[in-house]
Amino acid sequence: MIVGITGATGAPLAYKVLEILNDLNVNIHLMVSKWGARTIEIETDKTLKDFSELATRVYNSRDQAACISSGSFRTDGMIIVPCSMKTLSSISVGFADNLISRSADVILKEQKPLILVTRETPLSQIHLENMLKLSRMGVSIFPPMLTFYNHPKTIDDMTAHTAYRILDQLGIEHPDAKRWKNN
Ligand SMILES: Cc1cc2nc3c(=O)[nH]c(=O)nc-3n(C[C@H](O)[C@H](O)[C@H](O)COP(=O)(O)O)c2cc1C
Repeated sequence: MIVGITGATGAPLAYKVLEILNDLNVNIHLMVSKWGARTIEIETDKTLKDFSELATRVYNSRDQAACISSGSFRTDGMIIVPCSMKTLSSISVGFADNLISRSADVILKEQKPLILVTRETPLSQIHLENMLKLSRMGVSIFPPMLTFYNHPKTIDDMTAHTAYRILDQLGIEHPDAKRWKNN
């Protein structure tokens, strides 16, 4: 699984996704943008090294020569969590200016699953149009929304719920994921 972390708010969510994938022994190919690294500093008590230790392999997000920059790289899909509006726009026009948007561009051309955990609020028409365009191409647009039906007690509960739902998009199941049961 290719995972990109960009500079939208939500670094704890990215950490949770990595933790679950790591727990499930999924091979993780990780890239963190410059602003993704900054939000990790601002929003968590963890270091970039802590994030990297959960990955199988870590790439410099400016290294366009990395193997994941090529369609010949075998992968089951890609998650960008969180996905900034800047990275969203870059993917929507095929402007592969760094390894994260290039890898997403490759995922699109190879018709593999792409999950964008797009984060901004409120959304402008530009953001909405970019999301609609990619959604029509089969991309999963997954804004991390608050969920209350499962009665979360902590922010960690909410974060974990969202992380499990993101991985549901790829058919990745963790035994701790709680599901809605009405009876
Ligand atoms: C603390 C912090 C929070 C941010 N939150 C968001 C956000 O939620 N959504 C967004 O689109 N940009 C957000 N930004 C701005 C992006 O970091 C900025 O547009 C950056 O250029 C994105 O580049 P990247 O996609 O290559 O990481 C935030 C920046 C900082 C420092």
